[in-house]
Amino acid sequence: MATPVGVLVAIGGAAEAAVVRAVAQAPGLEVVRRCADLAELLAAAAAGVGRVAVVSADLPGLDREAVWHLHGSEAWVVVLPAEGDPPERSAALGADAVAADGAGVVAAVAGLLAGAARPSAPEPFVPEPHDAHGRIVAVWGPTGAPGRTTLAVNLAAEMAEAARDTGAAVLLVDADTYGGTVAQVLGLLDEAPGIAAAARAGAAGRLDAAALAALTPRLGSGLRVLTGLSRADRWPELPAASLEPVWAACRALADVTVVDCGFCVEQDEVLTYDTRAPQRNAATLSALAAADLVVVVGAGDPVGMQRLVRALAALGETGCGAPWRVVVNRVRPTASGPHPRDAVRAALRRYAGVADAVVLPDDQAACDGALLHARTLAEHAPSSPLRRAVAALAAEVLSATPPVGAH
Ligand SMILES: Nc1ncnc2c1ncn2[C@@H]1O[C@H](COP(=O)(O)OP(=O)(O)OP(=O)(O)O)[C@@H](O)[C@H]1O
Ligand SMILES: [Mg+2]
Repeated sequence: MATPVGVLVAIGGAAEAAVVRAVAQAPGLEVVRRCADLAELLAAAAAGVGRVAVVSADLPGLDREAVWHLHGSEAWVVVLPAEGDPPERSAALGADAVAADGAGVVAAVAGLLAGAARPSAPEPFVPEPHDAHGRIVAVWGPTGAPGRTTLAVNLAAEMAEAARDTGAAVLLVDADTYGGTVAQVLGLLDEAPGIAAAARAGAAGRLDAAALAALTPRLGSGLRVLTGLSRADRWPELPAASLEPVWAACRALADVTVVDCGFCVEQDEVLTYDTRAPQRNAATLSALAAADLVVVVGAGDPVGMQRLVRALAALGETGCGAPWRVVVNRVRPTASGPHPRDAVRAALRRYAGVADAVVLPDDQAACDGALLHARTLAEHAPSSPLRRAVAALAAEVLSATPPVGAH
């Protein structure tokens, strides 16, 4: 006789007994562990004790990340919706099946076992498949404050301005886990719930366009903003599995989402044996993986240029498949010689094979004034050379990102 298939059960309340009974009576299935909590379930699955995990949606701590780890242990996941909860919410957790009662669980397990492959963990940073139309532009660059935030904020502001005629919606997201500053730069209240709240809702399967809209205040220009972590030490609140639904909701809410990323793309999980440990760079890596276009920004001085060349190599190693647009910021004769634009372009061509870098001028007066008044360049210094260059780049990015429905 074939060995029965082991089923792990983690269900709170009265429903547990009925499910256990139904599974025990089903031919070919065996309840191998009745888990008291999520930790016990994850440990049992990781030890290879069961091939199927049956969990109630209201099990404390159950979220997309937990389901992702169960899949990583090659366990199918069947979720029982909490009372009064729509089945869609359970499905949004990433479950393989949703069942209402014991008989439903047995049928769902039979269906899964009859199917082809065993579950396996998805690649950590593969973006959600999506049919929503919005595009994601990640603004990223190496350490040394090359101007990621300045560029992300002002690109988004210019796009929102340009979109006034078309009615397109533009969203700016602060995903920098090393000290997000978007709220301060735009003079927004620090207490806004922001990206941590969006990630929490995403992990719980509760984030859709309407929920994200409630978390993203609109500025006068129509630009929506999802503010960052109010304290950098809160970075463990942004695991990759919680951010995937955030990107999906961004695509549903906005035509274009501009993401201000942290600088670091080291995959720190390879340094640890604890695969449940959160990773500080998960937010940046998941934004890069979700992006339709990456704007890579480096500083136009010798150190910044060398960092930029290395950063382009590091970006390639993340597996980010989106096209890149390379931008050199703060370009000035005192740092690059009498013909700084030509010098910077020639260096990038030679050392990174980048033929068409965008060059932005150094413009301290415009940037300092905008910061001091918590305004965008368009508001504070509309005719400054930097503002004009950023507006031209915004127009290019708007037309260069793949057209609606091209995914
Ligand atoms: N083109 C520019 N000309 C002059 N100053 C600039 C320019 N771009 C950015 N700055 C200034 O450089 C500083 C750093 O910019 P910003 O905060 O945008 O960098 P960042 O890459 O986001 O840094 P961090 O690593 O802190 O996130 C700010 O004071 C900003 O005003
Ligand atoms: Mg920044």
